[in-house]
Amino acid sequence: MARPSGKKPTAAEKAQAREVSLRRIGSLFTTHRVSLGIVVLIIVVSSIVAMASPFLLRAVIDDALPHADVRLLVWLVIGMVAVAAVTAALGVVQTWISTAVGQKVMHRLRVDVFTHLQRQSIGFFTRTRTGEVQSRITNDIGGMEAVVTSTATSIASNLTTAVATAVAMAALSWQLTLVSVIVLPPAIYLSRRVAQMRREITAQRQRELADLNVTIEEGLSISGVQLAKTMGTAPALIERFTGSSTRLIDLELRSELAGRWRMASMSIVFAAIPAVIYLAAGLPFTRGTMSIGTLVAFTALQAGLFRPLMGLLNVGVQLTSSLALFARIFEYLDLTVDIQEPASPRKIKDPGGHLRFEDVTFAYPGADQAAIAGVSLDVPAGTSLALVGETGSGKSTLAALIARLYDPTAGRITIDGVDLRDLALADLTAIVGVVSQETYLLHTSVRENLRYARPDATDEQIEAAARAAQIHDRIAALPDGYDTQVGSRGHRFSGGEKQRIAIARTLLRDPRILVLDEATSALDNETERAVQRAFDELARGRTTVTIAHRLSTIRDADQIVVVDHGRVLETGTHDALVGAGGRYAALAG
Ligand SMILES: Nc1ncnc2c1ncn2[C@@H]1O[C@H](COP(=O)(O)OP(=O)(O)OP(=O)(O)O)[C@@H](O)[C@H]1O
Ligand SMILES: [Mg+2]
Repeated sequence: MARPSGKKPTAAEKAQAREVSLRRIGSLFTTHRVSLGIVVLIIVVSSIVAMASPFLLRAVIDDALPHADVRLLVWLVIGMVAVAAVTAALGVVQTWISTAVGQKVMHRLRVDVFTHLQRQSIGFFTRTRTGEVQSRITNDIGGMEAVVTSTATSIASNLTTAVATAVAMAALSWQLTLVSVIVLPPAIYLSRRVAQMRREITAQRQRELADLNVTIEEGLSISGVQLAKTMGTAPALIERFTGSSTRLIDLELRSELAGRWRMASMSIVFAAIPAVIYLAAGLPFTRGTMSIGTLVAFTALQAGLFRPLMGLLNVGVQLTSSLALFARIFEYLDLTVDIQEPASPRKIKDPGGHLRFEDVTFAYPGADQAAIAGVSLDVPAGTSLALVGETGSGKSTLAALIARLYDPTAGRITIDGVDLRDLALADLTAIVGVVSQETYLLHTSVRENLRYARPDATDEQIEAAARAAQIHDRIAALPDGYDTQVGSRGHRFSGGEKQRIAIARTLLRDPRILVLDEATSALDNETERAVQRAFDELARGRTTVTIAHRLSTIRDADQIVVVDHGRVLETGTHDALVGAGGRYAALAG
């Protein structure tokens, strides 16, 4: 499904994509062919069975009642009840099967979208609003299921009912059938107009709801609240929320009214049609051609013609809106995966952790300036490299490249001589461990946060890792120890504590190459020393890349690299660089 990346589809391609999508929607259901076949069969059978009742009614009125034939009457009544019972039972079975199919298809789509989005690079998530992704996975796919199940079955049942009814009507009286057909066009016109109105309102309402969700996400998530409180933007947020909510009042009202109008127009049509038929039955050209029983049976039937026909007209509308939902979902499924799993991955037997950057250049997608330009680094296995440089110089970007959160635009990065792009992603994550600048903790217990790194870790191993990371005592002092909830995104902990928990988490993974992006926020001296000790513990025997904001922490590094505007400015040991009297000497001085 991958489109060549970086190329916008032309209008023709888009139109083509729209056509293909019908086939594609169909393909979602191919595995459920048998179930769907059974559903169609049930629908056809029950429509045909239902056709018996007007004929039974005619027999009651024309034969059984006038001749006081009780035996016939009893049989006819039993027949009427049986028809109702059989169609009702078939309806239950049909709903059961079709809902099960709809749910299975929805489940698959939901899982596919989730899985596919997980494989997206960080770039996708920086571009996309959180609420947007959530809304597509929950609302759109949910809405789709309803539409798919109800639309598909209502097409089938309305179609068969309409055809069966038309045939039965013609069999009863072709003259009256003709009259009924004449009433059709104005009824259709009326219903279409109202439906169109409704569709526009619904689309608007959907957009407004999505907006509301984003405001909730941005305004009521912990980071959002913090931002709003500290920036004093709470009133603006409230205003925005109030605005959205106010517009929703109007939209909901109009949507509700449009629905009511539809009902009103339908009930007028339903009242008018039998009236017209009674009139027609009394006109000279039909008079005397039919029995009272036929007339009653006919009026009973024609209601069964208009309802499904109107239903079929609505299906068009439902289909268009469900196509839009499918299009939104497929758009996500068709996103190219920038970070591709290699077709034939190479294995590193017994990884040593020799890291090399070979003339690496990288620009963020959409950025016109390269964040990293022609960087070459050589970090022999088991040695340490420290990156220093001004804010925005590209240090975190280098770290992200090592973890293959992005691929270089040019050049290559190797571990033990193997290009990162040739390593299976699972192997790469086993070799490279990252403690990032902003630590993310899950909203669960401390223990589960640590175990996230290694699901099979024992409690002893978790505690050992926490001890090594200098955070065990702090955790043990918490009210529930390791079972304490960390709070949304770890807001319960200080920056230094969070970073030490993150270090413990990475320790559990036991990676060969370790990347530590120091928190930019100043830690107090004691915390800083604790983090440093934790990190030294973690670094022992591994290849390490440290991004240092405090030069005190990197004196002993085997190599220090000064990064400036995405380039390597100088390289050397602390003593050599100080001796050289360049940028580092100025920073250290
Ligand atoms: N996701 C992104 N998309 C586009 N540009 C980005 C992105 N992330 C960072 N940049 C840009 O790339 C450059 C390098 O950023 P980077 O985060 O690597 O800096 P840094 O050296 O880690 O800074 P700091 O010391 O403040 O952490 C900056 O100019 C930044 O604006
Ligand atoms: Mg950074």
